[in-house]
Amino acid sequence: MLQSPEVTQVFCIPGNGGTATLPRCRNFAMSVDDFEGIGCLASVQGVSLVVIGPEQPLAAGITDYLRQQNLTVFGPTQAGAQLEASKSWAKTLMLAADIPTAKSATFTTVAAARAYIAAQGAPIVVKADGLAAGKGAIVAPTLETAIAAAETLWEQGHKTLVVEEYLEGEELSVFALTDGKSTRLLLPAQDHKRIGEGDIGDNTGGMGAYAPAPLGTPALLARVEQEIIQPTVQALAGRRIDYRGVIYAGLMVTPSGDPKVLEFNCRFGDPEAQAVLPLLETPLHTVLLACACQTLDQLPPLTWQPGFAACVVAASPGYPGDYPKGAPITGLAEAETDTSFVYQAGTQLKQQQLLTSGGRVLGVTGLGDTLTVAVERAYDAIQKIDFTGIYYRRDIAWRALSTARGDGQTDTG
Ligand code: AMP
Ligand code: GLY
Repeated sequence: MLQSPEVTQVFCIPGNGGTATLPRCRNFAMSVDDFEGIGCLASVQGVSLVVIGPEQPLAAGITDYLRQQNLTVFGPTQAGAQLEASKSWAKTLMLAADIPTAKSATFTTVAAARAYIAAQGAPIVVKADGLAAGKGAIVAPTLETAIAAAETLWEQGHKTLVVEEYLEGEELSVFALTDGKSTRLLLPAQDHKRIGEGDIGDNTGGMGAYAPAPLGTPALLARVEQEIIQPTVQALAGRRIDYRGVIYAGLMVTPSGDPKVLEFNCRFGDPEAQAVLPLLETPLHTVLLACACQTLDQLPPLTWQPGFAACVVAASPGYPGDYPKGAPITGLAEAETDTSFVYQAGTQLKQQQLLTSGGRVLGVTGLGDTLTVAVERAYDAIQKIDFTGIYYRRDIAWRALSTARGDGQTDTG
């Protein structure tokens, strides 16, 4: 946002150790649930655009509240945020609009879920209906693990369960920006959800990403737009839902090359955004404001820097389980160059010392003419950063690199 020429200042709520030190940026130690406080701050400061990052305040209706205060907001209303906040609601919408997705059923008792799982067989996927901070989907290889997953989610308080057909293929994240009428697709990205190299181990929020993912060919993206994004926007509008924000389609590209929706999110993906947005040449503020003001159709086509970006996430030891906080972070200045940037996540500034304060601490994005170079630059940079127990995967972008798709002259766009 600060790189957009029209932006003079950014206020972050609550912000982190990175936004605390950025020039023209200020943190406010408020909760994202404090709608009144946020509305008051934005009005007093004369903020021209409020961008809502995370899903929880969107699902809780922050956009509805701030619009009532006459603020200009990028982010869907509470009704629109159901796309992410209720998987069964999203499934019903997809079914009605004929959007390709895994076959599924919704249950409000464990017994019914268990019977359905037994009838369907494994592998199968069990999901919590509501927001679960990335821990609500369990891919179960056997009937026993599927039933155990349903019981665990239930005991955790998820009283609506979605049981879904297991889809094979390769995952792709596609973000569409919309003002509720027009849409603009961003470059496709691939996330790395598992903690371990080779995509093994526990699910995380995402350990790295790269863009544009060669899996998202122009032909595939055209289908995603026609078969998934446009019908979604129309279905939302048909329900009189005012959706101005990101539609994040988490897709499975099946072995036959068909895109199917695994999930929708109502926000940017993390860390995919740290790979996609550095390549965007059009000022971000211009695009988000056009969504918020419903003038997206008047905007010229988005322009992108050629080449690739790869983001590697550094996590605290133990993540996605329990992890320590408060470890001093060093080497950030050395890591930043013209082609490598550090995006801080779980950090805080205490007495001028940058400390870890979350599971995913930061991400380092490298840019390059080829994916290989982008990845090398990200790793060259992240090597210079240190904190006690720093962990990062060494194989970000392995899928694209192992098929050399990222290095061909033919499909780099
Ligand atoms: P979700 O929170 O729905 O995106 O699910 C988290 C992860 O679980 C996805 O990124 C996939 O890796 C996996 N997943 C979810 N749904 C399915 C499915 N129907 N088939 C196979 N894998 C799935
Ligand atoms: N990277 C996955 C997510 O943001 O949900």
